[in-house]
Amino acid sequence: MTVNQVTIAQPVLLDYNDLLNPNADLNSLIDKAFGNKTGSLGVCLVKNVPDLPLLRKNLLLLASEFTKLPSQTINKYVHQQSTYSFGWSHGKEIMNGKPDFAKGSYYNNPTYEIPPSSKDPEYVKSNPFYGHQNIWPNQELPQLQPAFMDLGKKIVDVGILLAKHCDKFINKDLSTKKDLITNAIEKSETHKARLLHYFPITPEDVKETSDGGNLDSWCGLHVDHSMLTGLTSAMFVDESIYPFEEKDKSSPEMKDILKTAGLYIKDRDDHYIKVNIPADCLAFQIGEAAQVASNGLFISTPHLVKGASAPFLARNTFAVFMQPNIDYKLNDTTTFLDFTEEVFKRHY
Ligand SMILES: [Fe+2]
Repeated sequence: MTVNQVTIAQPVLLDYNDLLNPNADLNSLIDKAFGNKTGSLGVCLVKNVPDLPLLRKNLLLLASEFTKLPSQTINKYVHQQSTYSFGWSHGKEIMNGKPDFAKGSYYNNPTYEIPPSSKDPEYVKSNPFYGHQNIWPNQELPQLQPAFMDLGKKIVDVGILLAKHCDKFINKDLSTKKDLITNAIEKSETHKARLLHYFPITPEDVKETSDGGNLDSWCGLHVDHSMLTGLTSAMFVDESIYPFEEKDKSSPEMKDILKTAGLYIKDRDDHYIKVNIPADCLAFQIGEAAQVASNGLFISTPHLVKGASAPFLARNTFAVFMQPNIDYKLNDTTTFLDFTEEVFKRHY
């Protein structure tokens, strides 16, 4: 794929008010968004989520604020014990075989400050990704904790509403209704939210190779392992101007900078499709755990993020990975832990 061949798709658009209605028949839209037929992108948008614009603005600007703290302050929130799955992580993850310095992430659990399982030292030792308590820079950036938790909980709440309609779709031909996706999300102590900061990059960093390579200059191709992943629309910030403000993505300047940048889905025919998330919508991607739990009625879709280059231009966004507890049974034989171990073997 090259710059001149960008295909933009409009994902299925759901209304929050319809999600609230358990009697609404959204089956055909859920199928179109997440189903196993050609044309499904594995992603949908949800509009009219109450308070979303303010919650988004309150949190996403703080990603730029955090990265401007002195390095010795930032380093206080790097948490090796959890293999960098709580607090600040930068250059610790591997992308395309190399440490990923293109972005930094602030991780925490959006629903439990102290997960009940954190009281069991054996669990914490065996499950460093999930078992720790949240870590906050409350001395230096006290706004982060409430902004992060408020938006994180909101996304999980909308995710639960969406999960109920996903289960309704799965259950439609089953005599025994299991509600596997809803129960997984409602009962989980292990959801993980990630405030992402993509550092400004040079034109050289985003340049595509003649064979269409380097498309994934901000985030490599992958599928999520969650049940559902909730995403905000990314916020672009010119970090040379303080106080930080969101750049208007509809301005001619930003439209030009962003014309090929952003989230891409690799569709069922191996074509890359660009997906734009409007600022007033949440996006939800279907994860691989839901593919297992739905016995293939849903298919998780590979995706990547292509960078945008402009001086001092950073990209901030927020993702919430809604995943079951490790002992949750995705089907009669497979727990989430079995599934993640199989995924790990596949990748490493
Ligand atoms: Fe992802």
